[in-house]
Amino acid sequence: MGNAESAAKIGTVPMLHGLSNHFHRCQQVARCSCCLKPQHLSRIAEVGAFDRTFAECRVRPTSETGAAVDSRRWGKPVWIAVAGLIFVVAVAVAVGGLVAILHFGRGAPPADRATPAVPAPPAEVPPVEAPPTVAVPAEERRFVDARQLMLKRDLGGRDITDARVLEVMGRIPRQRFVPERLQKTAYSDRPLSIGLGQTISQPYIVALMTQLARPKPGDRALDVGTGSGYQAAVLAGLCKEVYGIEILEPLAKQAGERLAALGYNNVTVRCGDGYRGWPEQAPFDVIIVAAAPDHVPGPLLDQLAPGGRLVIPVGRFSQELLLAEKLPDGTIRRRSVIAVSFVPMTGEAQSAPRK
Ligand SMILES: C[S@@+](CC[C@H](N)C(=O)[O-])C[C@H]1O[C@@H](n2cnc3c(N)ncnc32)[C@H](O)[C@@H]1O
Repeated sequence: MGNAESAAKIGTVPMLHGLSNHFHRCQQVARCSCCLKPQHLSRIAEVGAFDRTFAECRVRPTSETGAAVDSRRWGKPVWIAVAGLIFVVAVAVAVGGLVAILHFGRGAPPADRATPAVPAPPAEVPPVEAPPTVAVPAEERRFVDARQLMLKRDLGGRDITDARVLEVMGRIPRQRFVPERLQKTAYSDRPLSIGLGQTISQPYIVALMTQLARPKPGDRALDVGTGSGYQAAVLAGLCKEVYGIEILEPLAKQAGERLAALGYNNVTVRCGDGYRGWPEQAPFDVIIVAAAPDHVPGPLLDQLAPGGRLVIPVGRFSQELLLAEKLPDGTIRRRSVIAVSFVPMTGEAQSAPRK
């Protein structure tokens, strides 16, 4: 049998990858004619170690007779061994593949959830975290990270210094207060649509208004323009009782149900016009208003407790955020804080004479 023919046969033995290489190497060892015998390939498979066989080749006699004897003596059992080897390898590959599919298939997040809700801070590399001991769903981990970034960059990075406000906003799941399609942007530094032409306020504005109102654990708070319920949730974490008024019925209903589902049992929401406040529950230590009338509603000032704080956007074309404090003697002290842009207060505010 010639070299070319033997080489061709070598190529027909798919199991024995690398044999052509072996063949080539043997060619470089002078007179290693046994390697040119296809029968000997069976021997290689049978001994199961390529290099060992190669080593044998180097010491074997170069006569073709030896190879022929090998063939006669080992031929049949060796092919059985080859078949056995093929079977074992095939089973191992199949089991390995199955294990890989189960492992990686379960862990991979859906592509549409792979985008972070807010961009990572450009200059900072987040510390490497130890794997959580409790399984945290991928989207929840992203929300936690986004919330931390909001606290650090958008609140603490500005002028929000009240530790209680930061702590409470650091644990409220804001994504639960926005429509599902906007959840991935729930912690972005801007207001978001909540439907019916209304918005959930920018996190910084919520934090600023809350900080200005200085809520204390025993306080009663009124939240006018409850919208999504997020501001009410912030107040609920800082006060004893919160009363929310929302003029749009679907939003009022949704906010009440949402807050109840999240376990805020110190919040009561009703549908109504907040211009008149909530006289049955007055007085309030804190009043926060999230819609802008063109003047400060008298009923809200009346419903402030002595020492109470009202935070409200005021203005028709340009607005300012006002802090009004009722001093112990009942007089009102006002301070303009910052220019803002809120949705207008509807209802009586638009017909009531400006004072
Ligand atoms: C900026 S949005 C809501 C922000 C809300 N604090 C939040 O966290 O989602 C203002 C809300 O005030 C409501 N609103 C407007 N005029 C109102 C009024 N006279 N009484 C009560 N709510 C009013 C709007 O319907 C709207 O939902």
